[in-house]
Amino acid sequence: MNSPVWHPFTQHALEPAMRRILQTDGACLIDDGGSRILDAISSWWVITHRHRHPAIMAAIQAACERYDQIIFAEYTHEPAEELARGLLRIAPPGLAHVFYSDSGSTCVEVALKMALGFFHNSGAPRRRICVLEHGYHGDTIGTMSAGERGVFNAAYEPMLFGVDRLPFPTLGHEQKTLDALERFCASGDVAALLIEPLILGAGGMLTYPTSVLSELKRIAERHGTLLIADEVMTGWGRTGSVFACEQAGVSPDILCTSKGLTGGALPLAATLCTAEIFEAHLSTDRRKTFFHSSSYTANPIACAAAVANLAVWETEPVHERLRSLGVMQTERLTRFETNPCFRNVRQIGTITALDLTVPSAGYLADVGPKLRAFFRERKLLIRPLGNVIYLMPPYCVTATELDRAYDAIEEAAAWFEAGRL
Ligand SMILES: Cc1ncc(COP(=O)(O)O)c(C=O)c1O
Repeated sequence: MNSPVWHPFTQHALEPAMRRILQTDGACLIDDGGSRILDAISSWWVITHRHRHPAIMAAIQAACERYDQIIFAEYTHEPAEELARGLLRIAPPGLAHVFYSDSGSTCVEVALKMALGFFHNSGAPRRRICVLEHGYHGDTIGTMSAGERGVFNAAYEPMLFGVDRLPFPTLGHEQKTLDALERFCASGDVAALLIEPLILGAGGMLTYPTSVLSELKRIAERHGTLLIADEVMTGWGRTGSVFACEQAGVSPDILCTSKGLTGGALPLAATLCTAEIFEAHLSTDRRKTFFHSSSYTANPIACAAAVANLAVWETEPVHERLRSLGVMQTERLTRFETNPCFRNVRQIGTITALDLTVPSAGYLADVGPKLRAFFRERKLLIRPLGNVIYLMPPYCVTATELDRAYDAIEEAAAWFEAGRL
């Protein structure tokens, strides 16, 4: 290893030397050998429209002429103000305030603190958070606590707090999930239900129906439990609508967004909440202040990128692109439904996933890194979650590029069957 850089989620003892990327373009990364690598997972799910969308890059350049970082207490700036107004226009109804942070993990941490603060400040504190089995909400201590426990967080277990876990609503067993929420909420101590709406990303691209989401919301509401929608991955079109909650007709009490918020160009996150939650913190009693900040809150350049992203949504036929990408994905996925090498062939909006049939499944399945290497050799950035292969490309991906990805998936399965992988 001749680099001092320590990469995320990387076992340096096993990985080959890192490829250097010189440029990004459309749905591709261009490496130092000039190869175009298809970014079939949108660089960890952040890039929505395309790499380097011209309007977003131009907005960043323009913002650089005026701003760097500006403290976000005592002072505000137009990019943050404009973005907040725009977000509330596009978000599910009922959300009224926007709190900025820097990443998916931090906007979920903020959401948890808002929920606990809401009950604390209302004089009827609640201490429990309820989550879905197999959920992933980030890698900070709070979000790890709320996420699935496993090899990724075993070392940090002593620092993690307990949460109430609902069984994942597998097909035909949805009622168990709803009954479990009912039971937990009956304690009167559940402040919030934190969930990824319609699809659990890092947990294995597990999908569940809109009816479960709307029913969960109904139960939570009946018990005065807040619904926190973690739309960090699902937001900005991935599931076919701007936010996944829309498809269930659900308005969460708190909505977390990051990743595609800037079209993926710069790090930024926002936690949207209802007026009721904001007002529970509004008081002449300074102890009721929402005590959360980070140095780079609402970076103006990142906010300007997000404002430009909103304009892309308002002025370009993004919904039409989502629809046609969804159709292109369906057309290519169909042939895998009858391929005995795969199970659980599934799609939601622009995302497709399928499980390679292996003797031992799971995130640490040996086949994962082998598949990754197989795809890498074919100039494809595809990072299976264990034996779960998924595609979540930028919306500009072409039919030819998708064909290349699906042909490689089919070939990989054939290699696996033949014992070559
Ligand atoms: C649903 C969800 N929440 C939160 C996060 C954490 O986001 P970040 O990696 O930006 O902290 C992720 C990241 O993949 C995610 O998928």
